[in-house]
Amino acid sequence: MTKIRAAITGVGGYVPDYILTNQELETMVETSDEWITSRTGIKERRILKGENQGVSVLGIAAVNNMLAKTKIDPKEIDCVIFATVTADMTFPATANIVATAVGAVNAFSFDMGAACSGFIYALTTGASFIQSGMYKKVVVIGGDKMSAIMDYTDRSTCIIFGDGAGCVLLEPTTEDVGVIDAELKSDGAGETYLHMKAGGSRMPASQESIDKRLHYVYQEGSAVFKFAVTNMADVAAQITARNNLTPENIAWLVPHQANKRIIDATAHRVGITEDKVMMNIERYGNTTGGTIPLLLWDYEKQLKKGDNLLLAAFGGGFTWGAVYLKWAYNS
Ligand SMILES: CC(C)(COP(=O)(O)OP(=O)(O)OC[C@H]1O[C@@H](n2cnc3c(N)ncnc32)[C@H](O)[C@@H]1OP(=O)(O)O)[C@@H](O)C(=O)NCCC(=O)NCCS
Repeated sequence: MTKIRAAITGVGGYVPDYILTNQELETMVETSDEWITSRTGIKERRILKGENQGVSVLGIAAVNNMLAKTKIDPKEIDCVIFATVTADMTFPATANIVATAVGAVNAFSFDMGAACSGFIYALTTGASFIQSGMYKKVVVIGGDKMSAIMDYTDRSTCIIFGDGAGCVLLEPTTEDVGVIDAELKSDGAGETYLHMKAGGSRMPASQESIDKRLHYVYQEGSAVFKFAVTNMADVAAQITARNNLTPENIAWLVPHQANKRIIDATAHRVGITEDKVMMNIERYGNTTGGTIPLLLWDYEKQLKKGDNLLLAAFGGGFTWGAVYLKWAYNS
């Protein structure tokens, strides 16, 4: 029987207009453009401003961008998965809101919460639906409105994150392209170092939780950094080795954009030179679920059919993983 693989057949993306620069952050917390640039590689990030603007706004714009390019009928979409930790509401799923807004009226849809690894978790899930033969068109979105859960008095965290979303369309193929391998990992011990304490069922919102600023991201940056450097590089090396990938036959490393130093360490570990590393952290910062699809969106025109792509991510949970795929089209 011919093997069915899930190929990425379209990409969409969206970042909001407002640009929060390092210079503006200098007026908000005690920091400097020099410190932020040298420690993280970030120069600016996008912020979704305005009342009643949830992450669905970003997801809808990203999917509409993909629909305009691929020209598929949204009624043909079978499933929409949204990887996010900043859902519009605890329920319903933001994926439901996006699916209806873009006209994917025949799709079932759900959110996936794996923080910065959310997109590769959702991509692997969506690819499995296609490979099983069950579904023919799956839209995988990754995106976050991190500004909604950012404490803009905490200089070690607020300088990193931004808002944005990207998406891909997955369709079946019998050609030698598509998602080939994935390795996904998690470790609940990571809760200590990166979490948001209040607003969930363990600590519902109260006057005290608001007064203590517990509805924002809590991060022990240097501890997260150490776990991220080791685990993202390890999993990338693991998937590289078992698929006989080499620095020569990998066309692009597509790394989660958390910190340029973590990206450099991952590239170094698999022997990939900087010209083959997708990077847009300087413009968008860390958009959590959004980083990897936003890279594919930014670099789409440079990608060629048959290119070997190595996706790698690390995030809250802890969660981490890597995906090996062959690009399926020329733009
Ligand atoms: C957050 C991060 C940039 C901090 O960089 P770092 O080199 O680890 O810095 P540290 O936290 O050790 O802090 C070093 C010093 O810089 C200071 N500092 C922290 N943020 C600062 C800022 N924005 N501006 C100036 N100084 C800052 C600290 O207070 C500390 O000062 P001290 O030595 O006087 O106590 C880095 O740890 C990081 O990127 N971690 C991973 C984050 C991540 O990827 N998270 C998302 C999950 S994927």
